[in-house]
Amino acid sequence: QKDGHDWFMRKEIHEQPRAVADALLGRRGVDGRLQLDEMRLSDQELRDIDKIIIIAAGTSFYAGMVAKYAIEHWCRIPVEVELSSEFRYRDPIVDYSTLVVAISQSGETADTLQAIRHARAQRSKVLAICNTNGSTIPRESDAVIYMHAGPEIGVASTKGYVTQLVACYLLALYLAQVKGTRYGDEITQVVEQLEAIPAQIEKVLAKAEDIYRLARHHVDSRSFLFLGRHAGYPVALEGALKLKELAYLHAEGFAAGELKHGPIALVEPGLPVLCIVPPRGRDQLHDKMLSGIQEVRARGAHTIVLAEEGDDRIAPYADELVTLPRVPVLLQPLVAVIPLQLFACELASAMGHDVDQPRNLAKSVTVE
Ligand code: M6R
Repeated sequence: QKDGHDWFMRKEIHEQPRAVADALLGRRGVDGRLQLDEMRLSDQELRDIDKIIIIAAGTSFYAGMVAKYAIEHWCRIPVEVELSSEFRYRDPIVDYSTLVVAISQSGETADTLQAIRHARAQRSKVLAICNTNGSTIPRESDAVIYMHAGPEIGVASTKGYVTQLVACYLLALYLAQVKGTRYGDEITQVVEQLEAIPAQIEKVLAKAEDIYRLARHHVDSRSFLFLGRHAGYPVALEGALKLKELAYLHAEGFAAGELKHGPIALVEPGLPVLCIVPPRGRDQLHDKMLSGIQEVRARGAHTIVLAEEGDDRIAPYADELVTLPRVPVLLQPLVAVIPLQLFACELASAMGHDVDQPRNLAKSVTVE
């Protein structure tokens, strides 16, 4: 069942190229335009939307943060991202012109379910991004985009996360197509970039042994920081969550620009800091990230840097370097998360933990 892997999680990490390809299957019509079969919201209903609120929990929430960047960039619609457990308790402003997007791998997360019930009671439309056919959240939603990841057994979300991202990008591009905020050629170009992702994930997976070795070096570390900017910021949060839930270690993710506002006080000699560097194409972002890395190195941190191949400025900033394939900044989470999953899985395994069934956690959280 585990196809020769010791953990379901490891198997599921390696299934990600296939999962991403499946999530993209059949999304282009004969005319080349994007089609989302389970959309069930008319073009007019989508054009009438003037605000999107994404609600989700845990890893799905971090996928939602990436979705905000993509939707706002491609569609120019304001997007809020909210933890589903907080949503209905703060008297949110939602009405018929708000689209609520609920992201849930299981489709059964109680916090998210209660949040969509609240949204629908305020007459807003709800679209679910979900992996589990026929589960409660898509059944109670107006529309659904299925992720097609296949069953995810490990408690830690891996292929769930990357296929959630794919579904979010598809939603963003579809909205751009319907609203006319991007030209068809531009949309096709991004879809083609998405279609190239499975092969790029394979390239990262080919380095698994190097990343495992790196993880085992840190088996005695008790605290980790993760830094990112732009779409790399939610990836930093996701990397830290993986380490918390699997290795039971203190791990925190930060937007690199926030360091100087407090978190830098945590840095002491030897502290491992994992840094997700934006692609070179975004030079301002890239420069700012390098200066963030410099700040932690100057205080003795041990930097593990994820940067795109061919980044000729990165070497002096990295105690350890993991190269990533070249992808546009908005799609970088799809490749940047892979080393972080491998790292957490191996570290937890080397520490003797049950990777598939971490303590105190359940795969689907059906209580509020
Ligand atoms: O099934 P959902 O996507 O609604 O689950 C949400 C979270 O409980 C889930 O992503 C959790 O954070 C994972 N264990 C993270 O790996």
